[in-house]
Amino acid sequence: MNWTLAQRAEKMNPSVIREILKVTEIPGIISFAGGLPSPQTFPIEEMRVACERVLSQDGKVALQYAASEGYGPLREWVAQDLRKQGMQVSPDQVLITTGSQQGLDLVAKILIDAGSRILVETPTYLGALQAFTPMEPTVVSVNSDAHGVDAEDLRAKAGTGADKARFVYLLPNFQNPTGRTMTEERRAAVAQVALETGLPIIEDNPYGDLWFDAPPAPSLSSRHPDGSVYLGSFSKILAPGLRLGYLIAPKTLYPKLLQAKQAADLHTPSFNQRVVAEVLKDGFIDRHVPTIRALYKKQCEAMLAALDREMAGLGLTWNRPAGGMFLWVQLPPGMKAIPLLDKAVKKGVAFVPGSAFYAQGADESTVRLSFVTATVDQINTGMVALAAAIRESL
Ligand SMILES: Cc1ncc(COP(=O)(O)O)c(C=O)c1O
Repeated sequence: MNWTLAQRAEKMNPSVIREILKVTEIPGIISFAGGLPSPQTFPIEEMRVACERVLSQDGKVALQYAASEGYGPLREWVAQDLRKQGMQVSPDQVLITTGSQQGLDLVAKILIDAGSRILVETPTYLGALQAFTPMEPTVVSVNSDAHGVDAEDLRAKAGTGADKARFVYLLPNFQNPTGRTMTEERRAAVAQVALETGLPIIEDNPYGDLWFDAPPAPSLSSRHPDGSVYLGSFSKILAPGLRLGYLIAPKTLYPKLLQAKQAADLHTPSFNQRVVAEVLKDGFIDRHVPTIRALYKKQCEAMLAALDREMAGLGLTWNRPAGGMFLWVQLPPGMKAIPLLDKAVKKGVAFVPGSAFYAQGADESTVRLSFVTATVDQINTGMVALAAAIRESL
């Protein structure tokens, strides 16, 4: 059969990263590549107890079709939890999604026409580019530095009239891939530009709770509530296999997102929602998340110490994230990450070449390292191997 593909299907490329990451799955390899939360942090016992309780108390409802908006008590929990970020959200603005990845897909469907301009950070989350691209936008990279997007370049690219950007997609906290965080001043400047130019913000915040020493500044959405869609996730604070996330939308936009959600999957699994609501009641998250923060902080410190030790004098630079799962490395001038990965894998260590995360003008000398999946011992051994691969490439 000769299938004629839709134009949008033609735009769906196999993620370069998935292809590259296949080599990182070779048994025995130490991987700084994947974006996987540490399974040590999964609350297995609490989930088991909650599953039993939901099945014995509400089994018939929990296994039935349910409302597309999501399970009421979970929506209420989310609205309450967002207060700590300075967001005044009513539960009826909360749409429970099948991971925050679905939130990105729904946003793409309702806001992007073929040819619409959309703005992203440099670099940005690859999964967002994958969600946006099938809607055939023109993706424009906004200049960014260690603190996120440059507010003046954002103003210059916001556009007007028919050329006005549909939105800017931003990751203010412990960004994937770089681990960087927007300062308070930068948030204020970006929100000001968005307000003045009428530019909607899509704010993606799956890592915000994973701070090491101090919580990040209040969200962009708290400064621009009518012009923002905020995406959150349970993947990094409970477990990604639950596929539970949420979005917060202004009341005017919510119905369209809900219709897109209905078409996509009717609703997010109601059993998972009820189990998580059961786990979350009685303040579990306030006891649980500090244990994740402590573990990731220790892992991050181990990776930074190993970088200081092993990479001294090799001409690399890297940042020191204040939370999250990733850090970002700039290789010596002229050294490219993809050929380096080949050499590194032969020595038993893997990472993600940073070029995969750029919408335009990729910097091929960048590397994303995850510090959460490997153990401290593996981090130490892996960094020796990575330094050897770098020496060979000099
Ligand atoms: C920035 C960002 N947004 C969204 C997601 C999707 O997360 P999930 O669908 O598991 O909530 C991820 C996953 O790694 C991410 O890094």
